[in-house]
Amino acid sequence: MASNEIFQPLYFRHLTVKNRVFRSSVTGRWDNYDGSGNQARVNWENKFAKGGVGAIISSYVPISLEGRITPNVVMIDCDERIPFWQTIAEAVHRYECKYILQLSHAGRQRDIEGIENTETIRSQIKPRPAPSTTKTEDQVNGLPSYEMPISQIKKIIQDFAKAAGRAKAAGLDGVELHSSHGYLINQFLSSAINERNDDYGGSLKNRYRFLKEIVQAIRQEVGEQFHLQAKISIREFNNIIPPWQPSGNTIEDAIQICQWLEEDGVDALHISRGSTFPHPLLPSGPFPYRMLRYTYDTMTSSGGKNSFRNVIFFRYPWLWPLFELIWGRLPRKVSRRYKQPIQGLKIQDQWLDEYFKEHISTEEFQQLLNKHQGTILQDAKTIKDNVNIPIITTGGFQQASYINQAIADGYTDGVSMARTLVANNDLVHHFEKGKDIAPRPCTYCNECLGAYLELPLGCYTLDRFYQRSIKNLSRSESKKADREAEVARTREVMSVFDPPPKPYVPPM
Ligand SMILES: Cc1cc2nc3c(=O)[nH]c(=O)nc-3n(C[C@H](O)[C@H](O)[C@H](O)COP(=O)(O)O)c2cc1C
Ligand code: SF4
Repeated sequence: MASNEIFQPLYFRHLTVKNRVFRSSVTGRWDNYDGSGNQARVNWENKFAKGGVGAIISSYVPISLEGRITPNVVMIDCDERIPFWQTIAEAVHRYECKYILQLSHAGRQRDIEGIENTETIRSQIKPRPAPSTTKTEDQVNGLPSYEMPISQIKKIIQDFAKAAGRAKAAGLDGVELHSSHGYLINQFLSSAINERNDDYGGSLKNRYRFLKEIVQAIRQEVGEQFHLQAKISIREFNNIIPPWQPSGNTIEDAIQICQWLEEDGVDALHISRGSTFPHPLLPSGPFPYRMLRYTYDTMTSSGGKNSFRNVIFFRYPWLWPLFELIWGRLPRKVSRRYKQPIQGLKIQDQWLDEYFKEHISTEEFQQLLNKHQGTILQDAKTIKDNVNIPIITTGGFQQASYINQAIADGYTDGVSMARTLVANNDLVHHFEKGKDIAPRPCTYCNECLGAYLELPLGCYTLDRFYQRSIKNLSRSESKKADREAEVARTREVMSVFDPPPKPYVPPM
């Protein structure tokens, strides 16, 4: 087994990261409604910097109000936001952790538009259609969109550039373009979504034009020395609901896009997949029905064509198998074709926490790892073999031996982790101590994903929070053990509010 690759610095053109672990973007809705940040965001990012990751990639940060996915996320749409981002830079840099801000525009793929993105028609509050490359609604929620005019395209390109300039002014270490997962840039790139008949639609070259012009405008704004990377869905698998839709960009399209990005001055690529978010293949794992049954109702007021249908599907467990038939189709198909290119060490019984194993046995956990770790690795290597800039790959990583092997065998230069670090913020410190895996690892259950709409982001699976053995317990003791686990989980989730923001009395 290869060793110690994780702790080698990663050298980009103008940025050095101390190790190969990046915290991938994970959106939590704990900022202020008006798009200003607060102490909870500082606390959240601090957890991962303290936990040893080499760099943090922020959650998606809207470059404009119209491009916001949900309210209560911090934005970078005006200069007044710069001091907040300076605070974040200051907090994480104390741990020699770098901070890369993810610039994003939702396009048609909003979740909750918020009052600023509504219009009142005959006394009814309705979502204002979102700018996109199509007037066809997104597949999951079905929120309205329109094909925007060229003048608006040019304006959005400038919004991206100005936002990058603000990130630089705040002392952050770089920016990432959110050009994956079905958001606006991906709506341009995608052969399945883009319906334009002009210079920005049709051929791959035309579909790439929007991203190219964003990269050029950013370079003009921030110069050549500021780190710029792009997150790309290297296979789109767009054929979800209904399954007879076109499947979208192929790996060949992605190779070409990545080569153009390199030519145009992008410093690194972040490899992902899927033409929407969430997607049956990203984050991999089960659809979080139980959590969405509790949280998804918040979407009904957002006016998506499919929101009410989805509420009904998630509300009644007897309908879940029907939804699963559609949602689970791609994972079933892909898992039949996909073979893990490499293996980590076999999980040893003594590596896992004894209470955790009462809920998920060592064998069951090994199967979860085999299924969900490194899901995009094989395709990432195809990209890596076709470009000369470093790549970072996302998708289920949480085992040191596996990550070391992936880097040593040239599949990727670094890995990004989202859920696996949400479960164990200090995973890198476990690796430093020679552990191959955290004792209570992430189970890929996706409850955190389901929670994000309504609850503070954190790990929600109870299996990871038991404080004592549940073997041979009476009914009432067993209930007590469950309750203790719930309390431990809530304490962990709510720790993001500690320390709390300082109250402030405005001047008279
Ligand atoms: C709750 C949640 C929120 C996410 N938010 C973002 C986001 O804002 N931007 C993004 O590019 N990816 C986002 N992702 C995707 C992750 O960054 C990551 O690519 C994906 O979850 C696979 O990594 P993992 O298996 O380590 O979770 C999110 C994932 C989760 C679970
Ligand atoms: S809820 Fe916890 S265990 Fe489940 S996927 Fe999220 S972080 Fe992992």
